[in-house]
Amino acid sequence: MCGIVGYVGPAQPSTRPLDVVLEGLARLEYRGYDSAGVAVVGPAGLQIAKKAGRLENLRSLLAENPLPDAVSAIGHTRWATHGGPTDINAHPHRSFDGRVAVVHNGIIENYPQLAAELAERGIAPVSQTDTEIAAHQLALEVAKDNDLLAAMCRLASRLEGSFTLVAVDRESPFEIVAARRNSPLVVGLGEGENFLGSDVAAFVGQTRHAMELGQDQVVRITPERVDVVNFAGEAAQGKPFEVDWDVNAAVKGGYDTFMDKEIHEAPHAVSETLRGRTTPEGNLKLDEMRIDEAILRSIDKIIVVACGTAAYAGHVAKYAIEHWCRIPVEVELAHEFRYRDPVVNEKTLVVAISQSGETMDTLMAIRHAREQGSKVLAIVNTHGSTIARESDAVLYTHAGPEVAVASTKAFIAQITATYLLGLYLAELRGNKYVDEVATYLEELGKMPHRIEQVLDHEDEVRALARSMKDATSVLFLGRHVGYPVAMEGALKLKELAYIHAEGFAAGELKHGPIALIEENLPVFVIVPTPRRPLLHAKVISNLQEVRARGARTIAIAEEGDTEAGGYADTVFWVPRTTPTLMMPLVTVVPLQIFASELAKAKGYDVDKPRNLAKSVTVE
Ligand code: M6R
Repeated sequence: MCGIVGYVGPAQPSTRPLDVVLEGLARLEYRGYDSAGVAVVGPAGLQIAKKAGRLENLRSLLAENPLPDAVSAIGHTRWATHGGPTDINAHPHRSFDGRVAVVHNGIIENYPQLAAELAERGIAPVSQTDTEIAAHQLALEVAKDNDLLAAMCRLASRLEGSFTLVAVDRESPFEIVAARRNSPLVVGLGEGENFLGSDVAAFVGQTRHAMELGQDQVVRITPERVDVVNFAGEAAQGKPFEVDWDVNAAVKGGYDTFMDKEIHEAPHAVSETLRGRTTPEGNLKLDEMRIDEAILRSIDKIIVVACGTAAYAGHVAKYAIEHWCRIPVEVELAHEFRYRDPVVNEKTLVVAISQSGETMDTLMAIRHAREQGSKVLAIVNTHGSTIARESDAVLYTHAGPEVAVASTKAFIAQITATYLLGLYLAELRGNKYVDEVATYLEELGKMPHRIEQVLDHEDEVRALARSMKDATSVLFLGRHVGYPVAMEGALKLKELAYIHAEGFAAGELKHGPIALIEENLPVFVIVPTPRRPLLHAKVISNLQEVRARGARTIAIAEEGDTEAGGYADTVFWVPRTTPTLMMPLVTVVPLQIFASELAKAKGYDVDKPRNLAKSVTVE
């Protein structure tokens, strides 16, 4: 969850190491923002500055107490696990002898044993973190042979849990050493300087050349070299790649918040996800589907594993894939998956959906699935991420960097990618003819414009949100593909506006939730198209039922739906989509805007809601 940056550069000490690290931390702050800290190494030795709270607090501290010029630096932005978000618990942590400093992402599960060893030597921690224990242990190791790389290998072999551990050594200013297990780390390759980051956003302003690291690897960067070894110290290889994210994509581009910017990027996210995946004749081509066609023809079940918003994208996908491919699709919260002994085998295709590609729960689920002989297809947004690397095939969503903690454009891109998958399987398995698939693709191609049409009316949604800023509870109802959209609308409101919100299947209302309805309770209803008369009529009845009990009803309905217009207090119109399965791509947009504006009206930080982090790399 935490964000890590490292930089090592030319022999002449300067402010560049600190500047690069602070810039990287600003881009990684979405990964955690409980505290921030830096360590610089140069002629003045190893110096640390750290502060609880946002990065601005650290910047103010540095303005009052500047650090000396340096040749290397590491930085950290924290999402607290062990130890509260205090100055002392902030990273970097310095070793007992003052020689090394480390930053860490993850959880060191055996830290009590390691701490007990230190206690026997009279080394007592000053913080409540597992990281500080690693710093002391690393100092003991490096004292043996003055080789930071070898010391890190020995330490990493002894650690249990998940970690990216990055260290600097006062005695060796021109190197930074880092180890990773089950936690992300990428290298940025410069000229006469090199970088480390939890993801490429850390250094995308500096270089586009990057290198992925494998599991259980240790890397040493110097200004001129990058050496990779395994935990046994044997030479290993990183995998070079080019970063295709635009640096401007990581800044707000004139919007108030990253979330607003990213909501507006949804049309582009859809077109990018579709780009290059059709032939000039309009037929589907998914070159990335590197799973044997014979295996894909033989599968008898699909299980989608994902968390949060990505899981709701999976729920939407279930409707489409079952309908198009006639394969049963289960959607499983990734953290529940491996603990319930799921029935998975070589005839199961596991589809992991993740924006970050680093969600530990999802990663553990795919590892379990592969152990059982299943093939895993990842639908991921972040290139070079662990889930992408550990899957049999990857379908990237190409939504561009998503910085706001609340997922918006990535959700829409995920649905688009799952639809491509569904159509691919339908064609491969003979459930749909090529021309039928081409027709669906043509419709998908129209979705960016349709989303723009919804965005044209955002002011109306924002005005409603401001008028509801004192609401204490909001319900969302949907049916068919509107049901996951209802759950997603509720999740957005919970995480951003800290309001109690629930998404229900509209049909479930009469089985309990209707008891919640009271005078003026806001209820959003995602109304299906009237072109599905049976489904539509049921939801219109639900709308009437809640209104009759005093609810303030807000419908998201298709243009021209006179009944929705007649029964709801407010209607947000979405353009007609064909088929109905495409509706989530437009109906979710007003709900995203609503949550963002309501949170703003309440004075909350829309991009960094409390207690959350963008990338959840602990289980
Ligand atoms: O990176 P992932 O897509 O794997 O993340 C999964 C969830 O943690 C994520 O969607 C979360 O629910 C969002 N904050 C929702 O807006």
